[in-house]
Amino acid sequence: MKPIDLGYIRELYREFAGELAAVGKAQREFAESLKGTMTPQLDDLEAEITYLLLRATRPAAVMELGTFHGWSTSWILSALRDNGEGTLHSFDIIDNVVRNVPRDLAEGRWTFVKGDIKQTLDQVPADTGYLFVDAAHNAPFARWYLQHLFPRVPSDIPVSVHDVYHFRATLPFHEGKVVVRWLDERGVPFFTPSRAKAKADYAALNALRDELGLEPIRGAGNNPMIFFRMPALP
Ligand SMILES: C[S@@+](CC[C@H](N)C(=O)[O-])C[C@H]1O[C@@H](n2cnc3c(N)ncnc32)[C@H](O)[C@@H]1O
Repeated sequence: MKPIDLGYIRELYREFAGELAAVGKAQREFAESLKGTMTPQLDDLEAEITYLLLRATRPAAVMELGTFHGWSTSWILSALRDNGEGTLHSFDIIDNVVRNVPRDLAEGRWTFVKGDIKQTLDQVPADTGYLFVDAAHNAPFARWYLQHLFPRVPSDIPVSVHDVYHFRATLPFHEGKVVVRWLDERGVPFFTPSRAKAKADYAALNALRDELGLEPIRGAGNNPMIFFRMPALP
């Protein structure tokens, strides 16, 4: 099992460059077709790294917490389509995503669960192989999901949490501060392509994108997401 770090992510960019270019083009067209009704949330590097980790690890089931209008949902579904296997289980209080996600991406591989995750937790697949978290960004919500959601999924699976490093440090009273402290206490390393927190990695990955001829999708962006492997929990 490879650690999620710059070296590994660079390898994956090279391995999947052609497919990444095709998905990037489709995502640009998807965003253009829904201009005004969908606000893409993930920046290019963090969306592409999500796609690459899904391609590399080929999970049987993915859990997505927080769909909003469907930008991350369509990235994840594209990876599962390209894998030729795997299902996505998405959770959100609002269901705008259901109208937005293209039918050919959704059919046969997507389940949307509407409601507060605190009430729908029993629908999280036990065999989740990738956990994607982009929901409420306050500290109490983070404490809740660390206690109730994280122990439900297997150890070692890739996990990503959005909106952690918009700045060089996490913000007080914010989800990111709670999650980073939780990881530190357990000695779990994380990777971030954040422009503010990890300038050198951000620059290295953007240079690699240029070298591989990958065009901007939304543009460079802040990329505040963190990626790590789920530690073994009691
Ligand atoms: C930042 S948006 C997600 C953006 C999305 N990942 C994307 O790429 O466009 C956060 C979403 O989390 C949802 N959310 C917030 N708290 C939630 C909860 N307790 N249970 C389920 N969904 C929640 C919100 O309704 C919102 O749609």
